[in-house]
Amino acid sequence: MTKVLITGATGMLGQYALAAAKAEGYDIITFGRPQNDLNNIETIAPFIAQIKPSIVLHLAAQTDVDLCERDPALAARINVLATREVAKATTMVGGWLGYVSTSNVFGAKEQTVYNELDLPDPVNYYGRSKFWGEQMVIQYAPHNHLIVRAGWMIGGGASKDHKFVGKIIAQIRNGASQILAVDDKQGSITAAENLARFLLASAKRGRIGLFHFASKGTVTRFQIACEIAKSLGYSGVVRGVRSNIFPLSAPRATSEGIESIFLSDAAEDIYIGSWNEDLQKYISQF
Ligand SMILES: NC(=O)c1ccc[n+]([C@@H]2O[C@H](COP(=O)([O-])OP(=O)(O)OC[C@H]3O[C@@H](n4cnc5c(N)ncnc54)[C@H](OP(=O)(O)O)[C@@H]3O)[C@@H](O)[C@H]2O)c1
Repeated sequence: MTKVLITGATGMLGQYALAAAKAEGYDIITFGRPQNDLNNIETIAPFIAQIKPSIVLHLAAQTDVDLCERDPALAARINVLATREVAKATTMVGGWLGYVSTSNVFGAKEQTVYNELDLPDPVNYYGRSKFWGEQMVIQYAPHNHLIVRAGWMIGGGASKDHKFVGKIIAQIRNGASQILAVDDKQGSITAAENLARFLLASAKRGRIGLFHFASKGTVTRFQIACEIAKSLGYSGVVRGVRSNIFPLSAPRATSEGIESIFLSDAAEDIYIGSWNEDLQKYISQF
């Protein structure tokens, strides 16, 4: 039976990847806390060498953008050095490695949208650490890797979505009379469920290379909040605000929108819609 090793299986994307791997009938092994901590870098390679997976989905990361800014050494350990170990060990056992990166590798050029030919220019340590994570994958798994850059990920549903969409829906359901959302930063959204299916389908056919994977069009948090308000029939006010009213440790890109010049609309039969189509679909399942 095909052995699949998933890191970050408890995360937003990991939950969907786990479900997609189960649907394929794979033998699934997870690497995660408390037993397996990526901080213990020296334990990673022996773990992979013992399991000998044919597919590794490396989804775990230090994803707290502001924490990475305050503690770049932590970002480097988890997002760069641990990724290097995963890549080396996956290659040693002859496996295929799927690594999920982020639109945060872009932003300094203030370009509206970035494709796979654009050179990364991150504005914060999270983005830099994910970029150097990509480099580790390229260097240590040169012929057996897929790197997929995702936009602002949506997923998790009612019980697990503690990110932007989940917070806005919670505010509406809790009867907030006003919702504030930033209107001076643009990005793309990625439905985590679609991305998980794309990763599994890619693993099956051994797809390699670098791909951007996001819904079509760029969007601000304010536009996302308006779309949620509209679909939930919210009668309060959604107000666009400048990002500087929410002081954060890490700078954010003015625009980190991504698009793909390599993927067609229906990659692996997975329909990639416009941002509002994909957002509506997610809200309807919430
Ligand atoms: N969320 C986004 O908007 C977004 C956008 C683009 C790309 N990405 C990338 O997509 C991937 C998945 O993101 P996500 O949103 O699903 O992340 P998430 O919900 O924040 O989950 C992170 C996962 O990494 C694990 N992890 C973190 N530190 C660890 C450590 N020291 N040892 C072992 N496991 C550790 C967490 O385990 P615990 O449960 O133990 O904390 C969790 O399973 C990441 O590589 C991220 O960089 C995310």
